[in-house]
Amino acid sequence: MPALTENTQLGGQKLKRIVFSEVDVRRRVREMGSEISKSYDARDRLLVLGLLKGSFLFLADLVRAIELPLHVDFLVAASYGADKVSSGELRLLYAPETSLEGRAVIVVEDIVDSGHTLNRVLPLLRERGPESLEVCALLHKRIQPLDWEPRWVGFDAPHEFLVGYGLDYAEDFRHLPYIASL
Ligand code: PRP
Repeated sequence: MPALTENTQLGGQKLKRIVFSEVDVRRRVREMGSEISKSYDARDRLLVLGLLKGSFLFLADLVRAIELPLHVDFLVAASYGADKVSSGELRLLYAPETSLEGRAVIVVEDIVDSGHTLNRVLPLLRERGPESLEVCALLHKRIQPLDWEPRWVGFDAPHEFLVGYGLDYAEDFRHLPYIASL
C-alpha cells in the first residue's frame, strides 16, 4: 500500500501555499481549549455547538483540549454550495435538539468570512434561552464588523480562498490536516 503523502491526499490537485501548518493548528487549538477551560466551570453546563460541516475537525480537537464536563451538538447551515463566493443565502438543515436553556453555549465555527452565517444563526440560538452564548472561530477574515464578534479566534486569516482542516472547495480538501490557500 502506498504511503499517504501530501500528493495522494490532494488527488493531483494543486494548492498555492500552506497558510497554517498542522503544527501551528494543533498548538493554537490546544491554547484555545485551555483559554476556554479557564473561562467556565462545571456549573455552567457547557454545550459546544459545532457548525457543520466545516467545523468538524476543529470541534473534535477543541473539545479534547477543554478540561471541563461538556456536551456536544451540531448545527447544519449551508451557504456556499459549489461556489467560491458567499451567496448570502443561508439554509438551516439541522438545528440542535439539545436544550440551550440556562446553559453556557459556545458555537464553534471554522471560518468567519463575510459573517453572514453568524449574523443569521446567533439570533436563532439566542431565542432558545442560553445563559451565555459565545463564538469560538478558528479563522477570522475580519472583512466587516459583525453583530456577534467571536470571543475566541484562532488566527486572523488572509483574504484568500482557504481549504483544509474542515474547509472545502466543492467538498474537496476538508480532510487535510493543515490550512492552505487555493
Ligand atoms: C462556510 C464556513 C462557515 C461560513 C463562513 O460554510 O464553514 O460556516 O461558510 O462564511 P460567512 O462568514 O461568509 O457566512 P459553508 O456554508 O460553505 O458550509 P460548510 O461548513 O458545510 O462548508
